[in-house]
Amino acid sequence: MKSAKPYIQENKQRFIDELFHLLKIPSISADSAYKDDIIKAAETVKENLEKAGCDKVEVCETPGNPIVYGEKIIDTNLPTILVYGHYDVQPPDPLDLWDSPPFEPVIKKTAIHPEGAIFARGSCDDKGQMFMHIKALEYMTQTNQLPCNVKFMIEGEEEVGSESLEWFVARNLEKLANDIILISDTGMIAPDVPSITTGLRGLSYVEVEVTGPNRDLHSGLYGGAVANPINILTKMIASLHDENNQITIPGFYDSVIELTDKERDKMGEAPFNKEEYKKDLDIDEIYGEKGYTTNERNSIRPALDVNGIWGGYIGEGAKTVIASKAYAKISMRLVPDQDWSTITELFKTHFESITPKAVKVKITIHHGGQAYVTPIDSLGYRAAEKAYEKTFNKTPIPQRSGGSIPIVALFEKQLKSKTILMGFGLDSDVIHSPNEHFGIWNYLKGIETIPQFYHYFTELSN
Ligand code: BES
Ligand code: MN
Ligand code: MN
Repeated sequence: MKSAKPYIQENKQRFIDELFHLLKIPSISADSAYKDDIIKAAETVKENLEKAGCDKVEVCETPGNPIVYGEKIIDTNLPTILVYGHYDVQPPDPLDLWDSPPFEPVIKKTAIHPEGAIFARGSCDDKGQMFMHIKALEYMTQTNQLPCNVKFMIEGEEEVGSESLEWFVARNLEKLANDIILISDTGMIAPDVPSITTGLRGLSYVEVEVTGPNRDLHSGLYGGAVANPINILTKMIASLHDENNQITIPGFYDSVIELTDKERDKMGEAPFNKEEYKKDLDIDEIYGEKGYTTNERNSIRPALDVNGIWGGYIGEGAKTVIASKAYAKISMRLVPDQDWSTITELFKTHFESITPKAVKVKITIHHGGQAYVTPIDSLGYRAAEKAYEKTFNKTPIPQRSGGSIPIVALFEKQLKSKTILMGFGLDSDVIHSPNEHFGIWNYLKGIETIPQFYHYFTELSN
């Protein structure tokens, strides 16, 4: 495979313009008010896949948001790569913290992106990264170098749990048959430290509601004499971690796979600067489970976090009130071999058992998914490694990520294939937050590296 560099240089502006077009569509899956934009984004992905050289492209209806499927089959004897990505994005809130409107992409330089970065919701997660694959396909078809078959499956519900994708995969096993799944929806360590994501954490997401008295009460007339649901909920939540910052739910760690000292030493070789980490987040000390490093805490160890908590009076000034209800949203990031439904049950049983009789608790399960690890001695990993070596002149570091793409474990179960996670974003690209961005350099480097993966994967498959 010839280097895509000259082609990319020639078409750079168009590659950026076409991505801008997609970024302008507010395809927010969490908010049903954006249903039309979801459809518009799916149609736009379809048009781009057609232009890039797919022979068959369809927008597939599901019970939820449509899935865009495209393929180019050149020879059924050759291997098939299935590219997965998502066109839906997180809500842009809080809007006032954006320096420019989230759906009006602009290019600005930053310290880590001296060549400029595209600021827009979805620029990195995942429209920008998904678009690299479409442009890489365009390069290969335009220059007659596509070495194998390719299928695309781009969904619109990743940010809300991929329910329809599960439905779609179960009904289309044959259509989706492949030799390897390729995803760019994660990150890499730094522009000069390429890495391949070899693991994702699982997830269990729950919501709890604590009810005390049947109505809001005057906190003077009743204070001290009734159970305040907010007092109780915060106490219950506080008890979920012990003095070593370990999670106290009985059985929670039972199936956690502990890494060997050798594996942990290997992990420790990845560059990490504690002082810079603290400076970046403006914190005076790092924090977490005793006995583990920061990189271990956010990847090979599970975590439990409150994502939102509310109740009572939060308006201006003071209101003396004991609320009837208190709420919290809680996520648990899981690691192999924790099963997300087992963990969810353990949480439920435990949380109910620590609820004082003076209040009632209701637990709602939102969504979840299993963790994933990919072996580094596989054909797919070796092909990815060679691709990075070619375009970065460096061997990529295998790195387990703390984020979740729950559908990856399901792919393995249903489609019986491994996934290679070639992410080109940086942690500092602030996905899900205001001012999300994606480096132009990263965008183009992705387009350059992906065709090399096609080449080496086909070559090694022989
Ligand atoms: N692309 C992210 C996941 C990610 C980002 C993994 C960076 C590794 C590195 C994905 O879109 C995402 O946000 N996933 C959610 C889970 C989903 C079920 C809402 C997450 O991790 O919170
Ligand atoms: Mn994503
Ligand atoms: Mn996301």
